[in-house]
Amino acid sequence: MHDLQSILEQCWLKLTLASQTPGAAWRTPVLATVSAQQPRQRTVVLRGVDAAVGSLWLHSDLRSAKFRQLDLQPAVSLLFYDPAAETQLQVRGRAVVHTAGAVWQQLWDSSPESSLRMYLAPQPPGTRCSGPSPNLPEQFVGQLPGRSDLAAGLNNFAVVEIQAEELEWLQLSRAGHRRAAFVVCAGTLQQATWLEP
Ligand SMILES: Cc1cc2nc3c(=O)[nH]c(=O)nc-3n(C[C@H](O)[C@H](O)[C@H](O)COP(=O)(O)O)c2cc1C
Repeated sequence: MHDLQSILEQCWLKLTLASQTPGAAWRTPVLATVSAQQPRQRTVVLRGVDAAVGSLWLHSDLRSAKFRQLDLQPAVSLLFYDPAAETQLQVRGRAVVHTAGAVWQQLWDSSPESSLRMYLAPQPPGTRCSGPSPNLPEQFVGQLPGRSDLAAGLNNFAVVEIQAEELEWLQLSRAGHRRAAFVVCAGTLQQATWLEP
């Protein structure tokens, strides 16, 4: 049990560091949602982690398809892989969408202009177009907006909180792979078990 607990602690630590470190292996997980009983996946950036309450934070354009999917089915999975450490983590949980509040504001304030520029997109992401399009106002193609210009994108800025319910960890090793699963509730460990890899 002690080993399992320390694996879970290491996972939260690694997630927290990834949320603070561009380029970290676990920085860009794949977020899976369900749409009409079909799986949908996309890469996202992990923007924040609160291990104490078991939440992970992303941000995205409120007009994008994922929010229609989350409205109907908030069950999601995040998949992380660190190729150097040969470690995979699946986090299953429920998504809660925030369009106001302290964390929403903090993520807006702390994100660089380069991460927020996409919220100025004139068209909802995923809109069909007749040729390749950057979907940015003309003056901000190849040019970052200033902080005051970004305010026009605030209505499109949404934060997704993923409240972790289950984590599954797999580490490959010549000495023998190791796999473990955890059930958590509001950041508190409920169950931990080894799994055959
Ligand atoms: C490296 C990388 C990072 C990305 N980060 C984000 C992100 O943080 N938020 C986001 O909404 N989309 C991000 N995207 C774009 C998404 O993968 C996806 O195309 C977009 O969110 C639209 O998804 P949807 O139509 O399923 O809602 C990223 C793409 C890549 C390749």
